[in-house]
Amino acid sequence: MQFWDVSMDKPIIQTVDLVKRYQVGEVVTKAVNGVSIEVYKGEFVAIDGKSGSGKSTLLHLLSLLDRPTSGQVLVNGDDTAHYSRPRRVDIRLNRFGYVFQDYALIPELTALENVMLPYFMDTGCLHDCLHIGEGLLERVGLKNRLHNRPAQLSGGEQQRVSIARALVNKPEVFFADEPTANLDSDTSETIISIIEELHQQGITVLMVTHEPQFAQRAERIITMSDGRVV
Ligand SMILES: Nc1ncnc2c1ncn2[C@@H]1O[C@H](COP(=O)(O)OP(=O)(O)OP(=O)(O)O)[C@@H](O)[C@H]1O
Ligand SMILES: [Mg+2]
Repeated sequence: MQFWDVSMDKPIIQTVDLVKRYQVGEVVTKAVNGVSIEVYKGEFVAIDGKSGSGKSTLLHLLSLLDRPTSGQVLVNGDDTAHYSRPRRVDIRLNRFGYVFQDYALIPELTALENVMLPYFMDTGCLHDCLHIGEGLLERVGLKNRLHNRPAQLSGGEQQRVSIARALVNKPEVFFADEPTANLDSDTSETIISIIEELHQQGITVLMVTHEPQFAQRAERIITMSDGRVV
């Protein structure tokens, strides 16, 4: 389902002179320091750069998880600065899927319940939830882990649950922050293949990675250094 009047000549996500500043005690860090980028519908973009260069901070801003100190994030040409909190939540829930660097699964819930949660929050419907959640977990190779809680899953399995959860509301834009961090090469390959498949289906993909062999699988690489695009 298409939610926006998305045109190919307008970026689906654009930033203008984006800045995110953190202050801890006396120390001020410009985690993102004047970033202007454009991402078009259907693109597969990798964001790479050293640890601490601002990749996760940038992804949080692009996905409306966080607000910038200054500058703009435009979604389909519309400046999101004036968006209310419910409107931002609605976009994140219905149009964006996000895979967090630390998976961010809810420890008390099973794999299936974690995947179903965003669907349940959106529709309040429990009935088809089970079916949809099971299908997604099967797609990421976890048909036999439906009822395991995160502590009963390996790192790669938790990563795949978090990918399934990010897909449950059929996102138009899929954000993944280091989806292969700390995984063995076979599991990493499985995860990158799933992401490539999403891209082939027309989903816009933004993937943070510091592994060059995975960044090169994208159509375009944005490299961050000290909060800037280089
Ligand atoms: N909540 C915060 N408060 C203070 N400083 C922060 C905060 N979040 C990030 N930073 C700082 O901002 C900079 C960028 O952090 P960020 O997490 O975006 O880097 P990264 O490129 O994702 O690194 P990594 O590859 O290690 O995940 C770092 O110097 C970090 O210490
Ligand atoms: Mg990071």
